[in-house]
Amino acid sequence: MTATDPVFEPDFLWGVAAAAYQIEGAVEEDGRGRSIWDEFCGRPGVVARGETGDVATDHYHRYREDVALMRDLGVGAYRLSVSWPRVQPTGRGVINEPGLDFYDRLIDELCAAGIAPAVTLFHWDLPQALQDNGGWLERDTAARLADYADIVGRRLGDRVRMWMPLNEPVVHTLYGHALGVHAPGYQLGFGALQAAHHQLLGHGLAVQALRAAGCENIGIASNHAPVHAASDAREDALAADIYDHLVNWTFADPVLRGTYPTPELAAALAGPVDEDLKTVAQPLDWFGINYYEPTVIAAPAARDEGASGVLEVELPPGLPFRPVALDTPDRTDFGWPIVPAGLRDIVRTFADRYGEMLPPLYITESGASFHDPDPVDGRVPDRRRIDYHRAHLHALKQAVDDGVDVRGYFVWSILDNFEWAAGYRERFGLVHVDYRTLERTPKDSYHWYRDLIAAHRTGQTVTASRS
Ligand code: BGC
Ligand code: BGC
Repeated sequence: MTATDPVFEPDFLWGVAAAAYQIEGAVEEDGRGRSIWDEFCGRPGVVARGETGDVATDHYHRYREDVALMRDLGVGAYRLSVSWPRVQPTGRGVINEPGLDFYDRLIDELCAAGIAPAVTLFHWDLPQALQDNGGWLERDTAARLADYADIVGRRLGDRVRMWMPLNEPVVHTLYGHALGVHAPGYQLGFGALQAAHHQLLGHGLAVQALRAAGCENIGIASNHAPVHAASDAREDALAADIYDHLVNWTFADPVLRGTYPTPELAAALAGPVDEDLKTVAQPLDWFGINYYEPTVIAAPAARDEGASGVLEVELPPGLPFRPVALDTPDRTDFGWPIVPAGLRDIVRTFADRYGEMLPPLYITESGASFHDPDPVDGRVPDRRRIDYHRAHLHALKQAVDDGVDVRGYFVWSILDNFEWAAGYRERFGLVHVDYRTLERTPKDSYHWYRDLIAAHRTGQTVTASRS
């Protein structure tokens, strides 16, 4: 830690995060079933350079080495995801014991290293067999998630310290079902909202199943960021408002308030929506925000520049809003704007919007891709990643100083990994991975984070927060 690092309370939780398909590899081992990402990566032209998660960082075989890296880093928690098709190869019924055994070993290894396991159940890798049956467009998938939650909860619940049934339902809905740039590759536009509703219902049912299995400390990892209007013009403000409701409040309101942000939205959905919302709104012990970048929105035809390049995809015509590029030269190598204040603002917005109804917050993901150089003499200088995290932590500290209850920060990611449709070129890790040799090299940012954590350390524990 240096004089320029922010100081949090001693019990603030320092973590790192990753997800199964992005790091594990071993896609055909020990009875794992196929997931929609295996299928998607097999389609020509959808993932950069035709890359796949077949090997990824080979974490499935190297997890001991990776846990040792986390132990030396000194993190209090590791946010991992369980691969559903490893546990239930067809997404229903029979348990694949060898698949579940892997997580048993991993969790034991974490506990032995003094690291609290924080487990996501669904980080986008739906069993392909469930997709063949309609996936999240099908109501039944919500019940399947609850069964799977029950299995994992019973097996690992004695050691897991934080639970998240879902990761970023907004991104899985928008990228996977509306625009088609992520698996399962559907281009349904607003028709994708049904998949959002079923994920949210699955979340509620899975929270119930986890609690019934004796699991504690349950939340969600949900992607949120401020939405700004491109100008003061009324049309831009209106368009920004529509977009804000779609990407932020459609996903947070049901979970935290048991309502959809607009009656039109609820009316557009199939099923007993009012009943479902009661299930969705299970009381949570905490709420996790994944933050990357704010969005700027203009009215449909207000300007000349096209929307493509902002969401990295051509948007269908006829939408009531248009994302435009944020006017800043300060960007990651992925092209994403660097706006630390956005983290402060979204956290404050949550506190204002939900007031007493808001449980304690965690930042369940924050991070940046830079195209780091290969290691030289065991070193990877990544000054910009250090600056990125430091600036975001300063911004977060401002919200904490305002009185918002934020309990921890998880860096995305511990390792460089498979960045979905963008493949391996985007590197988010604190640890560099050489994809030819699979060798791990801690970057300068790893050493910085280790020092920051060490300076804070006194009694790092994860406590059940709803008491
Ligand atoms: C996801 C991660 C992803 C990261 C960077 C989030 O959208 O949860 O899986 O790698 O952000 O894009
Ligand atoms: C990336 C995804 C990411 C998403 C949302 C996409 O461009 O490819 O990995 O999760 O943006 O942040």
